[in-house]
Amino acid sequence: MTLPRTCRKWVLAEPLTDGIIRPDNFALLEEPLPELRDGQALVRTRLINLHSRTRLKMSAMAVGETDLANYGLAEIVASRDPLLPEGAHVHWQLAWQDWQVISREEKPIGYAPPTAATRALNHTDAPMNYVLRDQIAKGWPADTVMHVFGTSGTTALLGLRRCGPVLARDKVLVAAASGSVGSIAAQIARAKGAYVVGLAGGEDRCRWVVETLGIHACIDYRAPDLEAQLLAAFPDGIDLFCDGVGGSLTALVAPLIAKEGRLFSYGSSASFYGGEPRGTGNGLRGAFGITPEIEALCEARAIRIECFIVFDHYDERLSLEDELAIMLQAGTLKSLTQVTHGFENLPQAVTAMYERPHSGKAQVQFEG
Ligand SMILES: NC(=O)c1ccc[n+]([C@@H]2O[C@H](COP(=O)([O-])OP(=O)(O)OC[C@H]3O[C@@H](n4cnc5c(N)ncnc54)[C@H](OP(=O)(O)O)[C@@H]3O)[C@@H](O)[C@H]2O)c1
Repeated sequence: MTLPRTCRKWVLAEPLTDGIIRPDNFALLEEPLPELRDGQALVRTRLINLHSRTRLKMSAMAVGETDLANYGLAEIVASRDPLLPEGAHVHWQLAWQDWQVISREEKPIGYAPPTAATRALNHTDAPMNYVLRDQIAKGWPADTVMHVFGTSGTTALLGLRRCGPVLARDKVLVAAASGSVGSIAAQIARAKGAYVVGLAGGEDRCRWVVETLGIHACIDYRAPDLEAQLLAAFPDGIDLFCDGVGGSLTALVAPLIAKEGRLFSYGSSASFYGGEPRGTGNGLRGAFGITPEIEALCEARAIRIECFIVFDHYDERLSLEDELAIMLQAGTLKSLTQVTHGFENLPQAVTAMYERPHSGKAQVQFEG
C-alpha cells in the first residue's frame, strides 16, 4: 500500500462564544506527515469516542490547536517499533486527525501516568495507549470495541466488581442509564439478577432505557417528584447507586441509600451537560459530587464508596476485557453506540453531543 504523505486534521478555528460549540468553531487543515523514525508507527484512525469533557477542553484551546487526547481505535499501517506491529490495532490517545505518527513514549494528556503494573502490561507511557488483542480488535465492530472494551465497559464492570458481589437481592439505581457507562452498568447489574432502575432525561429516553437495556424501570431525573418516585421504587432503600452524574442528583439520592449499601461514583455529567459547578475539594470524590456532608452520611451509615479513574486500574484490563467479551458473546450485554460516519462530519458530531441527547456512546467513525 502507498503510504500517505499528508493527513487531515480538525483544529479550533475560533474560540467558543458563551461556551457553546458550533460547527464553524472547527477548521480543516491538511498537513505533511513526518517521516517515520525508529520507535514510531504510522496509524490510520478508524474511530474515536467523543467525551463530554470536550467542551471544557475546547474552551481552553488556542486557535489552530487540535484536541490531541481522544480515546480511539487505530490500525498500524507502517512501523519502526517491533512492539507496534503492522496490521495490529491499538487503543490510543488520538488527535482529530485521520493519519497519525505514534510512539510508545507519548505521555498521557489530562490523565495521570500509568502505574508500574499498567506500564508493564502495555509497554507504553500512557495508560490508554496499548496494542489490543486480535481476538478483541477483530472480534467485534469498531464501535463495540471502543464502547465495551474502552473506558465505558471497563469502568462499569470494575465499579460493579468493587461494589460486589452484586446479588439477585440487590436493588440497584443507575444514574445516566441512557449514557455510555450507565447503559453497561445497568445491563451488568441486571445480568447478575438484581432489581435495576435507571434514570434518564424524559419519558422517551426512559422508555428507550427499559426496552433496550431490559431493566425493571426508569425514572425521569427531571421530574419534580423525583424523590417521591425513588422512595416508591426503593421502599427499603437503594443497595447500590451507580452515579456518573454528581452534583444535585448525588445530594438527593445519597440519603436514600440503604445502610451498608454501596455508592459507585465515577463521573460528573451534571457539570459537563447540566451546567452545574464541579465540586472542588475532596479530590476526585469532590469533583464527582461527594461533598463532606455525603461523606459523613456514608460513614455514619456504613455505606461503601468506590470512586476511581479507570485508567489507574488498567493493569486489570485483560480480566475486564475477558468478562465483557463473554457477556457480549452470551448476549447478556449489548453495545449501544451512536456513531457519526465520516471524518468530515466530526464538527457536527461534537456539536450534536451537547445539542441533543445521545444514547450509549457517541462516536465518530472516520472511514465511510
Ligand atoms: N471514572 C472513570 O474512569 C470514568 C470513565 C468513563 C466516564 N467517566 C465519566 O462518567 C460520566 C458519564 O460519562 P458517559 O460517557 O457515560 O456519559 P454520556 O454517554 O455522555 O451520557 C451522559 C449521561 O448523563 C445523563 N445526564 C446529563 N445531564 C444530566 C443531569 N443534569 N442529571 C442527570 N443525568 C444527566 C444523560 O441523560 P439523558 O441524555 O437521558 O438526559 C446521559 O445518560 C462523565 O462525567 C465521564 O467523564 C468516568
